[in-house]
Amino acid sequence: MRTQVGIVGGGPEGLLLARLLGRAGIECIALERRTPEYLRARIRAGLLEQGTVDILTQAGVGDRLARERLIHDGLEIAFDGKRHRIDLKALSGKVVTIYGQAEVQKDLMDAHDAMGTEIVYEADDVSLHGLTSDTPRLRYSKGGQTHEITCDFIAGCDGFHGVSRQAIPQDVVRIYERVYPFGWLGMLSDTTPVNHELIYTNHERGFALCTMRSLTRSRYYLQVSADEDVDDWSDDRFWTELRRRIPADAAAVLQTGPSLEKSVAPLRSFVAEPLRYGRLFLAGDSAHIVPPTGAKGLNLAVTDVRFLTEALVAFYKSGQSDLLDGYSDRCLARVWKAQRFSWWMTNLTHRFPEALPFERRAQGAELAYLVGSKAAQTALAENYVGLPLG
Ligand code: APR
Ligand code: PHB
Repeated sequence: MRTQVGIVGGGPEGLLLARLLGRAGIECIALERRTPEYLRARIRAGLLEQGTVDILTQAGVGDRLARERLIHDGLEIAFDGKRHRIDLKALSGKVVTIYGQAEVQKDLMDAHDAMGTEIVYEADDVSLHGLTSDTPRLRYSKGGQTHEITCDFIAGCDGFHGVSRQAIPQDVVRIYERVYPFGWLGMLSDTTPVNHELIYTNHERGFALCTMRSLTRSRYYLQVSADEDVDDWSDDRFWTELRRRIPADAAAVLQTGPSLEKSVAPLRSFVAEPLRYGRLFLAGDSAHIVPPTGAKGLNLAVTDVRFLTEALVAFYKSGQSDLLDGYSDRCLARVWKAQRFSWWMTNLTHRFPEALPFERRAQGAELAYLVGSKAAQTALAENYVGLPLG
């Protein structure tokens, strides 16, 4: 088989890339290890920057998003039992969108079904070959048969645990990493969200986040230890713990109900540089992970896809390779700003088991400074809504 761009991974990122390339008349094939049913059901984060909404709309998958999304003008930060609102719109001129990543995935899959894109689900043993040649190849097996695809370029959109990054020789990648001493326990339920905007709470028992998927579906997160067993968390235990951490006036109106899903995710900051090796281009989680505190994961991944699409389109339309050559640096400039922000917001809102008393007091002072300073709130707001593309 032969294609122009071979894509490894059929997550939001691989599928968005396939969609943008397809619409630009560039052929591609995507290889995804999981089944379509698994991908449709996978629960992820749910906050989109305006730039992400714009590119999804440009990709022709913005209709349901426009109908169903919730627009948030602000958010709340709570500590010492008190809530403080940060007016994102007044401070930055921009708003954010609540729309689940699972919905983005479904919209993309439906669009590809309609368009007839070649997506191979349940592709096993994917491997990458000839990356420094002009004809890199993807090999995979399905139904007991081995297949090979010869490509012009390969896009590694297979997430943190994928094979693309591993295909780069270790001596040419530099890894930057910070693993946090805790995780997030998430729970989804068909209950009215406790507040119409998000509440990020710093509490002595640990961080808590109140978010949502719709006006009738809540999503809550609790800071737990990194090796926490989700089976130790009954619904009752979750609700009791959440009520203890969030401010009393929110706890008083918290609606509880059966969980639809619960899971624990570790927190990590990670960057692999550069994002290119020969004809392989990494994009999204395969190259970088942020802790979820600033909700930057999907938004950053989408920016990589946007830059990669621009570079590939320039190459195929006019033979120009300068955008391909600049791809890694262009992405990294943005990635590092989002890394810094996600790390800062994680440090601000979580309780670190090993924090010195000095560090705890400095964290309290930083929270007090934030809610008392328009300059500090503006800095949060402009990062939270998404920095300009640059
Ligand atoms: N072969 C084929 N497919 C693979 C392989 C493999 N060896 N390994 C992983 N995959 C698939 C996964 O099953 C998944 O569907 O690649 C896809 C990667 O998707 P994501 O993990 O969603 O990563 P990405 O598309 O980069 O999206 C980033 O997802 O994790 C969130 O916070 C993150 O919001 C961000 C977004
Ligand atoms: C979510 O809705 O899942 C969400 C929102 C904001 C975050 C993290 C997760 O910072």
